[in-house]
Amino acid sequence: MSLQLTKEQKLVQTMIREFSRKVIAPTAAERDLTKEFPAENFQKMAELGLMGMTIPEEYNGEGSDAVSYVLALSEIAYSCASTAVVMSVHNSIVCETITRYGTEDQKKKFLVPLADAEIIGAFALTEPEAGSDPVAQETTAVVDGDEYVLNGTKRFITSGKNGGVVIVTAQTDKSKGHKGISAFLVPQGTTGMSVGHMEDKIGLRASDTVDLMFENCRIPKDNLLGKEGDGFKIAMTGLDSGRIGIAAQSVGVAQAALDEAVKYARKRKQFGQSIAKFQGLRFIFADMAVNIEAARQLMLSAAAMKDRGENFSLQASMAKLFASEMVNKVTAQAIQMHGGYGVTKDYPVERFYRDARVFTIYEGTSEIQRIVISNHILKDKKK
Ligand code: CAA
Repeated sequence: MSLQLTKEQKLVQTMIREFSRKVIAPTAAERDLTKEFPAENFQKMAELGLMGMTIPEEYNGEGSDAVSYVLALSEIAYSCASTAVVMSVHNSIVCETITRYGTEDQKKKFLVPLADAEIIGAFALTEPEAGSDPVAQETTAVVDGDEYVLNGTKRFITSGKNGGVVIVTAQTDKSKGHKGISAFLVPQGTTGMSVGHMEDKIGLRASDTVDLMFENCRIPKDNLLGKEGDGFKIAMTGLDSGRIGIAAQSVGVAQAALDEAVKYARKRKQFGQSIAKFQGLRFIFADMAVNIEAARQLMLSAAAMKDRGENFSLQASMAKLFASEMVNKVTAQAIQMHGGYGVTKDYPVERFYRDARVFTIYEGTSEIQRIVISNHILKDKKK
């Protein structure tokens, strides 16, 4: 591995690998069928510090470095991508954003229960008519006395049903474009916020993805995150970290697919020998391994840049783009290796393939990542 992991980072990786394969993996297939939210997993993960990795120690968190965090997230994704996406949105976007922009009171109120997984964090930016273009969102937040009144609908909200606090963006002054969007902390159970349609998805089936509706939902002014007008910047900054998280999920799922394909190819005999002996398949294994390693290095380099306090936005988009495209290819190759068995529920590769599908879509599609990347490159060339 070109990035030298520290002794502590290797320890985190080994510890979470053992935990994930022993505790998270055995029930993943069942969860995919029942769509049951893995609440118990998060309790156990909180005991290991996994739900507070991006929270400073003074608020019960671990204050982990980004490299340790992505290594841990990859290990969870290896066993259960549904569990991993909840961990990722919770840590990468919600906890980290409150840590960065929250007031002391907000941090005390929300970070401690988030670190303990008493509550799970959700992030509500997307709307029915505003996905890749979040500035077009229509949810409004209007001041009334000491409160903001929220009205609108958010769509595709990960953990929107099972989350305990949601970071919600809304227009506070539509005439100002992206500078007219603000972010708010809305605890679950707030009058006027309700959970609507729950999506029946191809993958990540144990992670709830819902509509959140706001109808004259009143929240105290104290729940404004950052300043009025900071919402777009807050969302973009959160997504930079979130995108390294998607790369980590991609690497974890892809590694699981490769390992399953290796196991199967060694056992499966055709034409009088193990299919792992056929050069046609061996070359595919080689390509899968190279692509996974390349994605892993991009993920680690983005995380390392973040740890060094550098601007990692470009690297995060590169890691997200490459890794999410890679895992879609690798999981398809793993199914191909399994032949007909690959599309049955007797082997986990069909679940990996379904789980990976959304990775090129959420937290910025591959096309959006290419916009971010090309904007960075062309700006640099102008200098
Ligand atoms: N960090 C901080 N600020 C940023 C930023 C970043 N990464 N990117 C942009 N900004 C700031 C800019 O500095 C600029 O601010 P100023 O005007 O003060 O200079 C402002 O934002 C506007 O920037 P741009 O002009 O570059 O913005 P744009 O409108 O051209 O492009 C975009 C923005 C990249 C297309 C952006 O809209 C985007 O990323 N879209 C995709 C949205 C997305 O990822 N949605 C995913 C939904 S969330 C989800 O999936 C979560 C889940 O539950 C799993």
